[in-house]
Amino acid sequence: MIFRFLTAGESHGQCLNAIVEGMPSGVHISEDFINSQLQRRQVGFGRGGRMKIEKDTAKILSGIRHGITIGSPISLEIQNKDWENWVIPMNPNEVEQNEENLKLIESKKIINVRPGHADLAGALKYNHTDVRNILERSSARETAVRVAVGSVAKSLLNEFNIDVISYVTQIGTVVAKDIDNPFEYREKIEASDLRTCDDEAYEKMKLQIDEAKKSGDTVGGKFKVIIRNVPVGLGSHVHWDRKLDALLSYAVMSIQAVKSVEIGLGTDVASTLGSKTHDEIFVQDGKYVRKTNNAGGIESGMSNGEDIVITAAMKAIPTMLKPLNSVAIDKKEEVQAHFERSDTCAVAACSVVAEAMASIIIADAFMEKFSHDSLEEMKINYHNYIQRISER
Ligand SMILES: Cc1cc2nc3c(=O)[nH]c(=O)nc-3n(C[C@H](O)[C@H](O)[C@H](O)COP(=O)(O)O)c2cc1C
Repeated sequence: MIFRFLTAGESHGQCLNAIVEGMPSGVHISEDFINSQLQRRQVGFGRGGRMKIEKDTAKILSGIRHGITIGSPISLEIQNKDWENWVIPMNPNEVEQNEENLKLIESKKIINVRPGHADLAGALKYNHTDVRNILERSSARETAVRVAVGSVAKSLLNEFNIDVISYVTQIGTVVAKDIDNPFEYREKIEASDLRTCDDEAYEKMKLQIDEAKKSGDTVGGKFKVIIRNVPVGLGSHVHWDRKLDALLSYAVMSIQAVKSVEIGLGTDVASTLGSKTHDEIFVQDGKYVRKTNNAGGIESGMSNGEDIVITAAMKAIPTMLKPLNSVAIDKKEEVQAHFERSDTCAVAACSVVAEAMASIIIADAFMEKFSHDSLEEMKINYHNYIQRISER
């Protein structure tokens, strides 16, 4: 990959960080834009108490001068607003072993693992007796900094008029009405705390989340990410690790709690005849056009110029007020899983994270196709390419 990034940071640590490598020079990036994206991740009916403390803001520490990228690595930082309450239990340095500190550290120790989380496998694999050493990093708090990195990618895509949108299509058993062109509903989606534009479904979704919460349960759902104006030919058919559908699936599947990723028709391809699956090609005003987009904008690992359509499913949150049967790893006893402040439903937030991950993959494919040293050079290459294929 050309667009590479690493993140660091624990859920209750001092901050989250990212280093982003590969961005061309000349791209306008502002903290305001990044922060507007971080706010979108924090919205959501059914989120836990933490969202009220958080109000994330990112600081750009390097790689950008006066709002413009200079081609060097970009480092980003999001401070955890709750840090003051965790200074002793999460301090990277040794702390004084006095009674008060030891009591505080002990109170944050976790031995009862949660089914559906990283707790048990992580504690065994990394040889920990305190499960906090695992859950602090496996927590989806990390997705905040992914959204910040996604904003960097989006800033590049904006230069090429590439638009990304996401919306929730299902919460629990409530399925929203299908919409043809989500971009027309952007305002409504962004204003909805469940990122849906179906008013009727919205009320039922809220009810389902409320009912789950009342009974100490949690709920999952589905969402879509659509990317518009992607030129033909990003990705490649020639090798497994260059296929755009595979790369997008990997990126979205890497988000905590995402359990399925589909492109276009997705799993419905299994029951759909070939004649109803493949998008026939026509010529209109000298251009190749399609009347359908079952492929979801990707054929044989390459973008085909249609909207890229990703559908993903998020499982129900594993930390539950009414805990599941589980084990304590100190005495290997059967106990109830532990509970710590948690979301009841985070599908809306997850869709914003998926937008970020998809933007990163498209930005990377863009840089691979059109070079990535400077935006100016990329634009020349891009326009030459668009001109060349428009003449074919
Ligand atoms: C935006 C978002 C918020 C989440 N919030 C929580 C939460 O509050 N509590 C929790 O237990 N899991 C939460 N999760 C899910 C867990 O992080 C995830 O299930 C866990 O890391 C295990 O990974 P896996 O589900 O991919 O196997 C959230 C996921 C996302 C994407």
